[in-house]
Amino acid sequence: MSIHISAKPGEIANTVLLAGDPLRAKYIATNFLEDAQLVSMTRNAFYYTGQYKGKRITVGASGMGCPSIGIYSYELFTEYGADTIIRIGTCGAYTNELSLFDLINVDQAASESTFAKFAWGIHDELIPHQGKAFDRINAAAELTGHSLKRSNIHSSDIFYRKDPGTPAIAAAHQCLAVEMEAFALFANAQYTGKTAATLLTVSDIIPTHESISADEREKALLPMITVALEAAIMES
Ligand code: HPA
Repeated sequence: MSIHISAKPGEIANTVLLAGDPLRAKYIATNFLEDAQLVSMTRNAFYYTGQYKGKRITVGASGMGCPSIGIYSYELFTEYGADTIIRIGTCGAYTNELSLFDLINVDQAASESTFAKFAWGIHDELIPHQGKAFDRINAAAELTGHSLKRSNIHSSDIFYRKDPGTPAIAAAHQCLAVEMEAFALFANAQYTGKTAATLLTVSDIIPTHESISADEREKALLPMITVALEAAIMES
C-alpha cells in the first residue's frame, strides 16, 4: 500500500499501462484483460491487474497533469517495483500536418513545468522517453499494421489559455501536439532508472477546432489500446 494506491504488495505487474481517465482504465481491463482484478480504487483511480495473451499487466489511472501522473508513476516505480510504464492518452495537434486519429509515439517531452527541476534537480526543459518501451511501441505498431508518427510533444500545465498561438517552447522543440503528462512521467523514470513511454491519439486539431466527438472516442482509441497492449507484453 502506498499513499495513493491501495494495492497489496505483488498486486501490481511489472508493466503498467496508465490512462488519464479511470473509466478508460476500467474499459481496457474489462474488454481486453482476462482475470482482471480490481487492485486499487483509492480516490476512484482504478487499477486492474490481469492477463493479456497470457502475460500479466496492470492498467490504471494517472489523472490529469504533471502533478497527478508524478504521484502515481513515482509510487508505482518505487513502492510497487513496476519497471515499465506506458502512458496512453489524447493530444491536441498544433498543426494540420496531423489529422484526427493519428497515433504519436512520443520521442521527447518539452515543458515549462518546474516538476523535474524541483523534484529531481533535472533542469532540462526537454526530457526523452526512457528505456526500450518506445522501440517496443514502434515494433507493436508494425506488428499490428497501425501507422505511427514519432514526435516531440509539449506537456503543458495549461488546457485553457487566452493566446491561441503555438507556445514558444513547442515551436522551439518541434512539438507537433500538446498533452499534459509525459514530461513528469519521463522525469520520474529518468530519476529512478526505469522505463517509460507515451502513446497518444490526436483528439483535437487546435487551429481548425476539429475534434473527435464523444461518440467516436471509444472506437477511436482502439488502435492506441491495441498497440499499447502488444507493446506491454513484448520482450525487449
Ligand atoms: N491540450 C492539452 N491536452 C490535450 C489537448 C489539448 O488541446 N487535447 C487533448 N489533450
